[in-house]
Amino acid sequence: MTDLSQPAADIHTEAQPEATPASVAPPLWLLAELTYRCPLHCAFCYNPVDYTNHNRELSTEQWLGVLREARALGAAQLGFSGGEPLMRDDLEVLVGEARKLGFYTNLITSGVGLTDKRLGDLKAAGLDHIQLSFQDSTQELNDFLSSTRTFDLKQRVAASIKQHGFPMVLNCVLHRYNLPHVDKIIDMALAMGAEYLELANTQYYGWAHHNQAQLMPTREQLEEAEAVVERYRRTHGDRCKIFFVVPDYFERRPKRCMNGWGAVFLGVAPDGAALPCHAARALPGLVLPNVKDMPLREIWYESDAFNRFRGLQWMKEPCRSCDEKENDLGGCRCQAYLLTGDAANADPVCDKSPLHEKVVDVTRLAAAAHEPREQPIMFRNDANSRKLTGAHAPQNKVQKTAHDEPNDNGHTRG
Ligand code: FES
Repeated sequence: MTDLSQPAADIHTEAQPEATPASVAPPLWLLAELTYRCPLHCAFCYNPVDYTNHNRELSTEQWLGVLREARALGAAQLGFSGGEPLMRDDLEVLVGEARKLGFYTNLITSGVGLTDKRLGDLKAAGLDHIQLSFQDSTQELNDFLSSTRTFDLKQRVAASIKQHGFPMVLNCVLHRYNLPHVDKIIDMALAMGAEYLELANTQYYGWAHHNQAQLMPTREQLEEAEAVVERYRRTHGDRCKIFFVVPDYFERRPKRCMNGWGAVFLGVAPDGAALPCHAARALPGLVLPNVKDMPLREIWYESDAFNRFRGLQWMKEPCRSCDEKENDLGGCRCQAYLLTGDAANADPVCDKSPLHEKVVDVTRLAAAAHEPREQPIMFRNDANSRKLTGAHAPQNKVQKTAHDEPNDNGHTRG
């Protein structure tokens, strides 16, 4: 999951945004989800569980068009993500164009496929930054949670990233299994020379929502991990900047999700669907515009999907009359839908929500469970995606397009 709280980076050239409607700021951050293909099978992947239904990828030319339009709109930071973006053999071409346009670029990767040759080519193309994921500090848990044998490979890749002179963020998603290892995870990041460590507690969308019973930690685990992080911050200073992204299930006020719907974030999925947030595909009735059918400018400023929860007008009670609504903007729309069945409800993390008990119940269950592996984990893979898609009616509509055909890269599988 992308952390919008990380500091804005230097941009290579001055943005030249086109004239914009007065009340809506242009996007700052473009996330290009190049593919849903991925060699890993993480139990907490934020990709939609029905990703096998959306596997027709944009072509190189179409992605180049997206980058140009986004930069003209004013976007300045660009994340290449997936799935695994290295599964696309045109990644270097896209990075080169992004550099020319003046984006600050970040590759968000599992490390699988990041050979010395590709690192050299990406450096030459102008890539600025790499975010490498680990699942744990131990081989056993790293490999179990990703359902692959990738721990040793990730270690080698981390060393190569530093040898090529890239700034590196190590990212580790936290949950019940690995929270007790936070000290070892920090030691690993320090030993690898990472400039940043993002300890992102699991957000329960996508695959993590299906595995919530197994992944949800206890309050005690979180408090102990936070204390460990504080201790390292005191003893190691700025040698590695540690971000600890807290899970809001244990809070009484919701997070300002995505820094506001349609405020700074613009995602584009592998098939060209434009996303106001990573998990928007799960919201029923939200017709996602597609970059193959509509200019990005029109998508950002005029589409129903990007305007649906923008600002404060859409709010119902208790948010509408709440004096904190401008701080949290009602919280997370996807969480509101997943827990209450209506995306326009208050995020039930808020204790002013009449449905707050639903959140409390989830954390109570986690506190009562002793063995998280009792139930089988649903790993992210094509077979499970089809099984889950069959088990649930299609959750939203993506606009049909006349161009909805296999692309010229042959990238057609999910
Ligand atoms: Fe969609 Fe929070 S993840 S609004």
